[in-house]
Amino acid sequence: MSVTVRAATADDASALHDVAAATFALACPPGTTQADINDFVSTHLSIERFAQYLSDADRELFVAVDGDFLGYTMLVYAEPSDADVAAALTVRPTVELSKVYVLPSQHGAGVSSALMAATMDAAHGRGVAAVWLGVNQENGRANRFYEKHGFQVVGTKKFLVGDQWHDDYTRERVF
Ligand SMILES: CC(C)(COP(=O)(O)OP(=O)(O)OC[C@H]1O[C@@H](n2cnc3c(N)ncnc32)[C@H](O)[C@@H]1OP(=O)(O)O)[C@@H](O)C(=O)NCCC(=O)NCCS
Repeated sequence: MSVTVRAATADDASALHDVAAATFALACPPGTTQADINDFVSTHLSIERFAQYLSDADRELFVAVDGDFLGYTMLVYAEPSDADVAAALTVRPTVELSKVYVLPSQHGAGVSSALMAATMDAAHGRGVAAVWLGVNQENGRANRFYEKHGFQVVGTKKFLVGDQWHDDYTRERVF
């Protein structure tokens, strides 16, 4: 079955949680504890949280499906609250890509690029000047992927998982 990318709907909260729970740990550096991962997923990526995200006018979510759910992206239209990010970004208005998560069976298969293309189209359509994201500095695959899609490193930031602070790059793609 071919892969389709579409805007997520209110009915997708449970499937989004399932994909997030299966992929979040892949974005964390070695040594991240399972307890911290579980804490992050239950705090930020639960079915209830996705239901909130899906009903938030300042967020847009996209899913890749082939019958099953394969991956998702989320855009957050807000001025960044992190002072390091706010200082590093070069243009406004901006939107956070938070982020690209695809099941391992689909890595390297074009699903992530299809999600990225649809997500960038949506951001561009809302009139922002740029898109930014944070990515763990040790996540080589994701950094290469974002580099390929035009996201340049403009700074660094901290990212809290459980009670551990992780080191991210802040990346920005200016339209
Ligand atoms: C990050 C993600 C969306 C990228 O999608 P993908 O389909 O794997 O990406 P692609 O295969 O198109 O590109 C990955 C690139 O990284 C390269 N790569 C793979 N492993 C690598 C590593 N350890 N270090 C550096 N580059 C690596 C690949 O060769 C490829 O580059 P190429 O096209 O020049 O050969 C996907 O891997 C994913 O969902 N990962 C788990 C969750 C995650 O980390 N999300 C990002 C959170 S910020």
